[in-house]
Amino acid sequence: MIELDNVGYSYGGGELLSDVSVRLSPGSFHFLTGPSGAGKTTLLKLCYGALLPTSGVVRAFDADMRGLDRDQMAMMRRRIGVVHQDCRFLDHLPVADNIALPLIVSGRDMAAESGNLRELMNWVGLSSRADATPPELSGGERQRAALARAVIMSPDVVLADEPTGNVDWEMSQRLLQLLIELNRMGKTVLIASHDLGLIRAAKREVQARVLRISNRRLQLAGADL
Ligand SMILES: Nc1ncnc2c1ncn2[C@@H]1O[C@H](COP(=O)(O)OP(=O)(O)OP(=O)(O)O)[C@@H](O)[C@H]1O
Ligand SMILES: [Mg+2]
Repeated sequence: MIELDNVGYSYGGGELLSDVSVRLSPGSFHFLTGPSGAGKTTLLKLCYGALLPTSGVVRAFDADMRGLDRDQMAMMRRRIGVVHQDCRFLDHLPVADNIALPLIVSGRDMAAESGNLRELMNWVGLSSRADATPPELSGGERQRAALARAVIMSPDVVLADEPTGNVDWEMSQRLLQLLIELNRMGKTVLIASHDLGLIRAAKREVQARVLRISNRRLQLAGADL
């Protein structure tokens, strides 16, 4: 699905990531850990083409991202759902519209999609909050809305950047269950998270590989996690 081959990345100063090679195969479940500032968000951005590597190759669905034109890049991004670390909503629009935004942007027939939208709002438990605006939501509600928006285009891959940041344990478990369900439906899942408790909980339910960024390199964490 997504493959990084000897990838290096630098924002202009020294190299932040070096020699990173990883393959997210279809249906796999990965966690990405590492200290704050290690480059987790940067690595996710490389995975969905928001950044291009300064060295090495990133492939999505067997195509080198560097060779994609605008339209091809847009097509590729539709197959990857992203839960951003900061959620990024349009605060003046109701939650339902925020979740539906990817459909609207890609010109889908909204009347035909309304059942799909309702079902998804129900799945994340936000049916009763559909008309609220994002600033009116709790942290957990925002995270669930961000997850719903990430999957509304039925992507093959879901990349979630700290999807349980700022929520309590119970809510983080609920979000984790949603991500596990997506994986059971066949989606490839990568979650960036500091939360070792969450990772341990997930490993009891799914076969998850844990990747860790340490000293600019990506390592496979041991079974002790
Ligand atoms: N656009 C940018 N320009 C320059 N430096 C950046 C930019 N974005 C991030 N950085 C720097 O790159 C490093 C890695 O940032 P990144 O956001 O990938 O870390 P992270 O592992 O996701 O951290 P956190 O756990 O806090 O979310 C940090 O030192 C950050 O300051
Ligand atoms: Mg981050």
